[in-house]
Amino acid sequence: MSIITNHVPTDELQALDSAHHMHPFSTNDELGKEGVRVITRANGVYLTDSEGEDILDAMAGLWCVNIGYGRDELADVAARQMRELPYYNTFFKTTHVPAIALAAKIAELAPGDLNHVFFAGGGSEANDTNIRLVRTYWAEKGQPDKNIIISRHNAYHGSSVGSASLGGMAGMHAQGGIPIPDVHHINQPDWWAEGGDLTPEEFGLTRARELEEAILELGEDRVAAFIAEPVQGAGGVIVAPDTYWPEIQRICDKYDILLIADEVICGFGRTGNWFGSETVGIKPHIMTIAKGLSSGYAPIGGSIVNDEIAKVIGGTEFNHGYTYSGHPVAAAVALENLRILEEEKIVDHVRDVTAPYLKEKWEALTDHPLVGEARIVGMMASIALTPDKASRAKFASEPGTVGYICRDCCFANNLIMRHVGDRMVISPPLIMTPAEIDEMFVRIHKSLDEAQAEITQQGLMKAAS
Ligand SMILES: Cc1ncc(COP(=O)(O)O)c(C=O)c1O
Repeated sequence: MSIITNHVPTDELQALDSAHHMHPFSTNDELGKEGVRVITRANGVYLTDSEGEDILDAMAGLWCVNIGYGRDELADVAARQMRELPYYNTFFKTTHVPAIALAAKIAELAPGDLNHVFFAGGGSEANDTNIRLVRTYWAEKGQPDKNIIISRHNAYHGSSVGSASLGGMAGMHAQGGIPIPDVHHINQPDWWAEGGDLTPEEFGLTRARELEEAILELGEDRVAAFIAEPVQGAGGVIVAPDTYWPEIQRICDKYDILLIADEVICGFGRTGNWFGSETVGIKPHIMTIAKGLSSGYAPIGGSIVNDEIAKVIGGTEFNHGYTYSGHPVAAAVALENLRILEEEKIVDHVRDVTAPYLKEKWEALTDHPLVGEARIVGMMASIALTPDKASRAKFASEPGTVGYICRDCCFANNLIMRHVGDRMVISPPLIMTPAEIDEMFVRIHKSLDEAQAEITQQGLMKAAS
């Protein structure tokens, strides 16, 4: 057994954490002073911390635990696979059963001619693969200069140098010498924050046409691909107006631009279909997958590519791969996760029962004085906090100040709900029951009321001019 167990007192664990563990996307000095919460176990939609508190996880971890926590089947499969073949690679004329079976299963689930999978350890690695895939594809087709990838401001595609370059998070671009060359960003379709006087439909078209303008400006013979999340997740669950995606598809088709759908969050049931691309009605050439592929029980991701790309790439030595590409234990766990999603008809149940139930309650949140827009697709949803609904006003305070207060109220009420700037987002496990949804809303309402009181008390209920 490991030396550290769940029975060590919380303050000792916190002290060790602060001394040695660097947290992602955190100011570690502040965390150390505040003391982090130690999560010790989880079941269904609930986490338990080292003080024995049950916390409702409305984020499914990091948007990933689609089948919920505590499924023994995945643990059993992992143990069996570790005993049989804990590791082997697929680099040098070898393969193994879990990678074969998982690739075949993904090809069966993915729409159209998306039939080939290049495995990675997670979404960031998979998007790095995509950069090399699309550039190699066009080079092999005799167009090596067709290498610019267009993405969107406020997109999230991962945290490695390549994937963070594809992403459009200003804070990330400010550190570490990114973006890499030949990545171009256009504006996002966030009507609530940026739509001005346009109707959502007009705004959707305007933002989609920025892709066409960028292609014409950069040159059709220079643009390799457009990458986007069907529904932006980490950017704040931004749902594009209905006019947006058909126009994007038209533009990609017209200018022979590869369309990469980053399905890392949207894939595997999150939007009420197996893939977000089906929900928004697009036909990508490549899909990025991770998270819900294994419901987060093991780290695994990948790129699903269509027949044409696989054929072109297959004609050359693709000098790319990761030690853990198609890791047998992760692949076996993912396969078991997909079996559960499919056999228990979880995606159908989300579409027909859980998501409609959640939607009705979610949209009613706009009755709360602090809530402007409420958006939801399947089991991912967001609300925009605002000091004035009628004018869709932003707060005068530094963006994120109010969201942070609200998130802390949720946390104190044992509810994990994330803030992105001054938007609050959820992405709960897909297996959430109506009773658990009801319980979640009890905590959401209490947290919103407390946040409103706190914001008012701090004098923050003011609109930006
Ligand atoms: C849309 C999207 N793409 C890529 C990633 C990166 O995946 P990972 O953290 O597994 O590297 C994320 C992570 O949140 C994501 O939301």
